[in-house]
Amino acid sequence: MVPPNTTVSPLPHARWWRAGVVQAVSPPGVIDLGPGYLEPSLLPVDEVLPLYAEALTEFGPAALSYGANAGAEPLRALVAARHGCTADEVMVTAGTSQALTLLCTVLGRPGRSVVVERTSYDLGRSIMTDHGLRLHEVDADGEGVRPQALDRTLSQGDDVAFVYLTPTFHNPTGTVAGTSRRRQLLAVAARHGVPIVEDDAYTELSLDRTAPPPSLAALAGRRGVIRLGSFAKTLGPGLRLGWLEAEPDLVETLTSRGQLVSGGSLNHLTSLAVAMLMGDGRYDRRLAWLRDQLRLRRETLVAALRAGLGESVTIDRPAGGFFVWLTFDPRRSEASLLAAADRAGVAVAPGSRYGSTPGTHVRLAYSFNPPDRLAEAAARLAAAWRNEETLR
Ligand SMILES: Cc1ncc(COP(=O)(O)O)c(C=O)c1O
Repeated sequence: MVPPNTTVSPLPHARWWRAGVVQAVSPPGVIDLGPGYLEPSLLPVDEVLPLYAEALTEFGPAALSYGANAGAEPLRALVAARHGCTADEVMVTAGTSQALTLLCTVLGRPGRSVVVERTSYDLGRSIMTDHGLRLHEVDADGEGVRPQALDRTLSQGDDVAFVYLTPTFHNPTGTVAGTSRRRQLLAVAARHGVPIVEDDAYTELSLDRTAPPPSLAALAGRRGVIRLGSFAKTLGPGLRLGWLEAEPDLVETLTSRGQLVSGGSLNHLTSLAVAMLMGDGRYDRRLAWLRDQLRLRRETLVAALRAGLGESVTIDRPAGGFFVWLTFDPRRSEASLLAAADRAGVAVAPGSRYGSTPGTHVRLAYSFNPPDRLAEAAARLAAAWRNEETLR
């Protein structure tokens, strides 16, 4: 495997990694295990640098024109080939957040509701409530949403716009639904005639050398499923690029919205630049390298947490994605867990942010720090939480 070229001097980049330029900057001395981002050294500056020149050379003025409303054909064709669908089932988006926003405006209307897993991606929930949609939470187990719980909720007769699921490397829990669970969920949703929005941001980041089960979209042939993909986790969120897979009629409905008819493809030049990367094997090499990096980070964090915390906390080792999900004795207080982490100089994400019962869970991202800092963070957390336990 050829590692990406990482010869760019770190100095100018470090100078610009600051508030007002990037979204998340850790306070000095704090190891931040909060954000689900790639750390600076995992962002492919050198690989992306030539892509814009390549795209402009190849496409000329067509790269600077309004792009086709559904996105430029070269990227749609590459995405379709990769995910086993046809190009007319693919629409280029400006990432999952934008795609979800668009779906809320087209499928939702204030007062309608969306069914979500009780514990689920906090900002996805915000996007939906921003649109006046009400959230119906359903119970989950180690494979995500329970089909019987989904069936019960959908039987209540509410006006449900869609079901929002993350069946692969869930954020925040890391869980993966097996193929039979996926088929059951699809059958329940189809029986009620409610579409599923499958948020699939982490599928390419399988860390256990076994491919995750087929997507809901693939199992359903995209009928009744809208799958959201993103390059934010595999390349970089600053590209603001993703895609959506859906039935061709829905793709057409979405792309005939005023925003797209007026402005054309979202992020046209970047979509052509990424097509250059995907078209000749460079994207696959990048993914193989990134998985190695993330695997090392996951192993380091999980091993250091287990060594430091022993049996007092359940530490789920995820099969992919960015997050370790910790389960505490439910009698512990979330505020005191967070305060102890804060005193130790480690930022963590409380489980209640994602809808889980306060005090029972904490999410730790292993994507945003190098291995030595992850080991240090785990040692600090273990000492802080052990002390906090004896203080109670
Ligand atoms: C489950 C999930 N969906 C969507 C996103 C955001 O995707 P994008 O950057 O493409 O908007 C994230 C990022 O944290 C995520 O974890």
